[in-house]
Amino acid sequence: MSRQAVGAPLSRVDGRLKVTGQAKYAADHPTEGVVHAAIVGSTVGRGRMTGIDTRAALAHPGVLTVISHLNAPKLAYRPNPSSNNPEGGERLHVFQDDKVLFHGQPVAVVVATTPQAAQHGASLVEVRYDAEKPATDLTGTHAHDPVTYARGDADQAVQSAAVRLEMTYRTARNHHNAVEPHATIARWDGDRLTVWDKTQWVVGTQRELAAVFGLEQDAVRVISPFVGGAFGSGLRAWPHVTIAALAAREAGRPVKLVLTRKQLYAGTGHRPAYAYHLRLGSDRRGRLTAMVHDITAETSSYENFRENVLAAGQALYAMPHVRQAYRTVPLDVNTPLYMRGPGHATAAYVIESALDELAHELGIDPIELRRRNEPAKDESNGMPFSTRRLRECYTVGARAFGWDRRAPKPRSTRDGDWLIGMGMAAAAHGTLRNPAQARVLLDARGVARVEAATSDMGPGTYTSMTQVAADALGLPTSAVDFRLGDSTMPTTPAHGGSQTTASVGSAVQDGCDKLRRQAIELAVGDERSPLHGVDAGDVAVGDGRLHVKNDPARGETYQQLLARNGRTRLETLGAFTPGEPRFSTCAYGATFAEVAVDHRLGLVRVRRMLGVYDVGRIISPKLADSQAHGGMVGGIGMALLEHTVTDHRDGRIVNNNLADYLVPVNADVPDLRAIFLDGEDREADPLGVKGLGEVVHIGVAPAIANAVFHATGRRVRELPITTEALL
Ligand code: MOS
Repeated sequence: MSRQAVGAPLSRVDGRLKVTGQAKYAADHPTEGVVHAAIVGSTVGRGRMTGIDTRAALAHPGVLTVISHLNAPKLAYRPNPSSNNPEGGERLHVFQDDKVLFHGQPVAVVVATTPQAAQHGASLVEVRYDAEKPATDLTGTHAHDPVTYARGDADQAVQSAAVRLEMTYRTARNHHNAVEPHATIARWDGDRLTVWDKTQWVVGTQRELAAVFGLEQDAVRVISPFVGGAFGSGLRAWPHVTIAALAAREAGRPVKLVLTRKQLYAGTGHRPAYAYHLRLGSDRRGRLTAMVHDITAETSSYENFRENVLAAGQALYAMPHVRQAYRTVPLDVNTPLYMRGPGHATAAYVIESALDELAHELGIDPIELRRRNEPAKDESNGMPFSTRRLRECYTVGARAFGWDRRAPKPRSTRDGDWLIGMGMAAAAHGTLRNPAQARVLLDARGVARVEAATSDMGPGTYTSMTQVAADALGLPTSAVDFRLGDSTMPTTPAHGGSQTTASVGSAVQDGCDKLRRQAIELAVGDERSPLHGVDAGDVAVGDGRLHVKNDPARGETYQQLLARNGRTRLETLGAFTPGEPRFSTCAYGATFAEVAVDHRLGLVRVRRMLGVYDVGRIISPKLADSQAHGGMVGGIGMALLEHTVTDHRDGRIVNNNLADYLVPVNADVPDLRAIFLDGEDREADPLGVKGLGEVVHIGVAPAIANAVFHATGRRVRELPITTEALL
């Protein structure tokens, strides 16, 4: 028997390409005759442009052209429902009018023969404005109509509850800050457009460019084999992608556009800031009766961005009465976008902090309180759970973390000047699945090339898909060549929301299953095959061979089979279509954190963390582990460091650089550990996976916040938790 690839601790199959610099990111693709573009961003937060003086820029050596609303052609900007563009508004139409909707909005682009000339040219463009005061502050502004949810009579139930809590939590705006900046190279060949882009969804970018330029979808090709982190910022095509294509068309040359770090803050989305008011009621034993959620979040003035901030309040715990109202406030900012456990991370921070507050109020252990509120079914839709092993996550986690050493009383453990605390939080994330396809091509060498238009922003799509294909075809992983990131490949959903392994993986498996069956049919029907006449069901594959199940010596290799039959290849198209949901399927996790807080300085240090996850079957243990560590690191950032600061006088982001916007560095990242519960979810998808990219992030910030409370006795209801808040 050959070893199974799925479940084996394979290293990244693309690791060598990455560490030797051969992996090509968006800006790395060599393009004959390419010229360079630099964006001029608005220096006011709202208003109109009254004039643009491009003379100095155009006189600068190397500058070829300057494009703004004064000379740009009208673009089609067809509606694009098949994108990740937020609903209820219209996307930013670049260079189509004189309006300024947010600080840093692209108002012109300079094209030049070198990046330096383009950059310098951009600094020479003079834009005059009729500026107005922008609204960028979440407080005291009007909101869109709320999205609402209700079951029972939550207001009345909170009123009459034996125990009532009411509090407002706030979370800061966060920016994705991947290492690789967004970048686009655009090239026109007649009316056909080719784009190399940093994106989590080549098909989405293809559709958006087709809609913007009024082209057929297949007149646009988008290529993106490697993505240097994205965390959600690549889930839609931002205006700079259009600008690169527009500049290439106007300049008559291929154009490369790389955003500066500052421009990433202005133009590629962010986790919206929230104010989240929560009232809850419970009985004296900690059984929840009701929650009322009044949620306010920022969006832009021109699009209504909403995310899934309501699910946790409806289904994480059992309770008869829930009311929710989710209002978005249009502000003079760039439109937000999904970021690391979008919506869920915010809701979990609030609900899991509130549970911790209730546990403290009632003198009940936080884990015990959660156990008392475990639902028997999904109370948001009445469905049974396919798998929900949160109780096991608590048990395994408490044991591995040493939860029994936690003194119940806050501020009771010290280590010199440091106050020590332990906290925990639960997390859930609905398993997203969408239709996907994958092509499988087995050649005469017995090497399988598998292709799907998906992405790998870091979690390891190349590796996990290689493992799935290897097992289904009975090949060693070295004989599988998985390719992704090209819109000419079979269509897949966006690489986000933890859906890639479930959706694309199931399509890959289907394609490989079909190909294996094709090969077996060919063999058993071939008089010259050692497998001739064997029942197809009795043929297995392994180590690159087809053989009789209980007589492994009787068989042949794929190469032999193809050569003898004069075939250069076998080819199939795999597909996955999710069925009607009959179960509530979510990934679950319990996160534990130990922190130390310097009682004189208010400094918080995370000492160690543990995550225990119920995410179905693990395809790639090394990468799952790595993903969990990444989720914890992101959560440390959200809890303690990350905060986009806006100057509300002019709408400028003041810390738009990696010196002032704090992300965790090695010194902030302690001993991290992840445990994945063994098992699979047979209802989730053919692979039995539930997705894990989001859930590993979701419970982290509240676990840390609860540990800070346990260490200090101080409840900080605002993220990030700063030194100032603890003094
Ligand atoms: Mo993500 S926020 O699933 O890219």
